Amino acid sequence: MNNNRNQTIQVAFAGCGTIAPLHLIGLLAQREAVQLVGLADPDLDAAKSLARQAAELSGQGEPAVFSSLDELLAAIHPDVVHILTPHHTHVGLACQALQAGCHVLLEKPAATQKADLEILAEAVRRSGRQLGICLQNRYNFAAREARQLLAAKTFGPVLAARGFLTWWRDDQYYLQSPWRGRWATEGGGLMINQAIHTLDLLLWLVDEPVTSVKGHLHTDHLEHVIEVEDTASLLLRFETGATGVFYATNAYPTSSDPFLEIVCEQAIVRLEGSDRITVLDRSGNLLEPFDQIVKTGEDAVSEAVDQFIPAGKSYWGKSHALLIADFYQKVRKEQPFAIDLTEGRRALDILLDLYEAKRRRQ
Ligand SMILES: NC(=O)c1ccc[n+]([C@@H]2O[C@H](COP(=O)([O-])OP(=O)(O)OC[C@H]3O[C@@H](n4cnc5c(N)ncnc54)[C@H](O)[C@@H]3O)[C@@H](O)[C@H]2O)c1
Repeated sequence: MNNNRNQTIQVAFAGCGTIAPLHLIGLLAQREAVQLVGLADPDLDAAKSLARQAAELSGQGEPAVFSSLDELLAAIHPDVVHILTPHHTHVGLACQALQAGCHVLLEKPAATQKADLEILAEAVRRSGRQLGICLQNRYNFAAREARQLLAAKTFGPVLAARGFLTWWRDDQYYLQSPWRGRWATEGGGLMINQAIHTLDLLLWLVDEPVTSVKGHLHTDHLEHVIEVEDTASLLLRFETGATGVFYATNAYPTSSDPFLEIVCEQAIVRLEGSDRITVLDRSGNLLEPFDQIVKTGEDAVSEAVDQFIPAGKSYWGKSHALLIADFYQKVRKEQPFAIDLTEGRRALDILLDLYEAKRRRQ
């Protein structure tokens, strides 16, 4: 392990598909401290193409390319492995990397089965390494601001919360990566892949134990392409008596900004998209001085990623880069990274229970 604080941290990726360039951008934003040394993907062309891109953008050497994580770990010894693969492979690959003594940054969802979450927890415990889960929306400006206000109980207890996610996913999205849309490989649909982020934010912001969940999962507009749900509605009860209402769909004709609202005794906190936060009084008027919470500038990591983000994709990768920067800072300082498996399970446990209830009903 190169865990000497002055040494470059060596990184490998398992999976070089759609999400991998965002992880690459996250690494590039701190390339003095980390280096991508290996890529594993059974699709060697995908791995080679990412290796070329990494070398061009970083000015460092090309990472070595392997057709599996097994081969990679037999040949090189990265300090950290990012797992960026189809959902059903997450636990096996993460355990393999942990057993090899690597820290792991795992894309959501941590697992597709509850039993696998226990296996993963045990692997983390035995390894003594960090497991971070990529729930990058917690690093959005609006989410961070709202979390600070709510954690400090600025507006009194939470009475209710609602979350809405109305996005668009078409046939092509599922056809281009056939692991999507299948119970065996994606482990679910809209909830486990897209809405997990918004539900996670709602639960993180309310930050109270959930005592009951009622939910409905439907496959509406993608029935001809997928087995899993494209639409969901949930009613949550928190231990405090607060209520949560959640609706999500992949059937809206455009992917609009996710909406979250937390109603507290003395104010209503609204989040739209990643940067917009509004605080209203209970009558719906802007509440001073909280009406001034406006994102004014970029942080150093976001500024650093700008140079690597393709034209027209300015929204790309910033929260991923912030999460990645935080993860590496914690690894360097040997401090725990906040979105560990326990945090990574908040929304996941709920949606896995919903899937299980649906299976039992069928
Ligand atoms: N956090 C986010 O906002 C976000 C956004 C998109 C995707 N993701 C997550 O990223 C992960 C990957 O999604 P994607 O859209 O990039 O999928 P993708 O299908 O585009 O890419 C997956 C890649 O993994 C490779 N792969 C398959 N099995 C492998 C194995 N055993 N070892 C190494 N590589 C393997 C495939 O060949 C493919 O290149 C998923 O967990 C997904 O939920 C997260």
